[in-house]
Amino acid sequence: MEQPHWQPSRQSAAPLHVQIMQYIRDKIAGGEWPVGTRIPSQRKLAEAFKVNRSTVVTALEELAAAGMLEGCRGGGTRVVNHTWGALAAKPPTNWDDYVKSGIHRPNLPAVQEINRAEFHPGIVRLGTGELSPELLPHREMSSVLHRVADRTPSLGYGEPMGDPQLRELLAARLRKLGIAASPASVLVVSGALQALQLISVGLLEQGSAVLVERPSYLYSVPVFQSAGMKLRGVPMDEEGLRADLVGAYARQYSASLLYTIPTFHNPSGTLMTEQRRRQLMDAIEAEGLPVIEDDVYRDLWLDEPSPRPLKARDTAGNILYLGSLSKTVSPGLRIGWIAGPQPVLERLADIKMQSDYGSSTLSQQAAAEWLGSGWYEQHMERVRDQLKARRAIMLGCLDKHFSDIASWNAPPGGFYIWLKLHSQLPARTLFDQALRRNILINPGHLYDRDANQYIRLSYAYASLKDMEQSLAQLAEIIKSISS
Ligand SMILES: Cc1ncc(COP(=O)(O)O)c(C=O)c1O
Repeated sequence: MEQPHWQPSRQSAAPLHVQIMQYIRDKIAGGEWPVGTRIPSQRKLAEAFKVNRSTVVTALEELAAAGMLEGCRGGGTRVVNHTWGALAAKPPTNWDDYVKSGIHRPNLPAVQEINRAEFHPGIVRLGTGELSPELLPHREMSSVLHRVADRTPSLGYGEPMGDPQLRELLAARLRKLGIAASPASVLVVSGALQALQLISVGLLEQGSAVLVERPSYLYSVPVFQSAGMKLRGVPMDEEGLRADLVGAYARQYSASLLYTIPTFHNPSGTLMTEQRRRQLMDAIEAEGLPVIEDDVYRDLWLDEPSPRPLKARDTAGNILYLGSLSKTVSPGLRIGWIAGPQPVLERLADIKMQSDYGSSTLSQQAAAEWLGSGWYEQHMERVRDQLKARRAIMLGCLDKHFSDIASWNAPPGGFYIWLKLHSQLPARTLFDQALRRNILINPGHLYDRDANQYIRLSYAYASLKDMEQSLAQLAEIIKSISS
């Protein structure tokens, strides 16, 4: 549950604990906190309300005495009754039971916490996989949206495969990368994450095994697991996925699919070498193993242009290729794409129509304007220059503060530095202590449950000043925990 933003008034004649009681009672009686809801801990409520913990305890005890709250096994406090429910003949709906019964898995608790903490005022986000507001093209986006508006845009539902003009532009870009694509082999989706969702429910049998790099972004979003798949991690090295192991893993687990991020991997930043790409193509062709190539970071190269995608080498139609505007132009547009065999895309488009009736047509028209006007290329040049400078600053800070406590590699592009701490620290303590100082980190275990010694850093998000100060503080925190 989100932390309340309300605080009791110290100017009020009513004592603080009475104001807190009234606040909680209104939440419960109004149905915002239905029966079964686990309310935030005493510590969190005291922090949110800016009062002593004992004040919160008094308010909760009174509400418990009134029969509205009850302590639950395993700690915490739960709503057990609301005032009208106590009088009614039938007990109120226990939404908590429903919430636990849905098919889709919840996010990992740490991911939920990060998703909430990202919007705390004053927080410094050291691991966020998103361009900083300073790097997002606000001025250009305003012009793009004006141009779209001036053309009396279509406001209706769109075609199942997506806006024809956008697909034309995407197909042309894909052909420049060496991918044999036409508008009919491109499906527009609401971000690459939706592509994964559609694939997981549309193409794979329940119980299938999906091979992924270990670590992988895919461990941090339970999309495949919710659709009944199992993820099987294949090790990586500094050249990328260990292609020499793919055949054996595919056979051992009867894998249905391989998911890979060969270019500026999330979270490790690794760029798969040319030789490794060839080796991987040989392995997947020998196994007849379908592949999802997630290439959302391709245009964020910082030293030299990215190598050709795997899909450009795919003559057998084994690869589904994913791209997105989220990491380059605006995650808020929610525009991504899948390139692949037409029957597969038609199946996915059919499911997409059942789930959202197509991606926002306005966003698609804005995306077409970005890609068709030449602004995308100009913007990317600026983004690359700035990311390069940010990468240098972050690496400088790491040299200064972390050289005796961690090791890392300089990534050739993308957003991330995969920081390996020399000592094994309790990840929770580190996360909490950093958060207490308004520093939000992405712990390694989100991407591989055994990667407790790692932190995913991003040089893309925090302002330079915040980045420098927070990295120095983070090093201090790590040193104090390990001493
Ligand atoms: C590798 C990878 N794929 C997909 C996504 C999701 O992107 P989108 O915003 O296009 O859904 C992300 C975002 O972090 C990512 O890192």
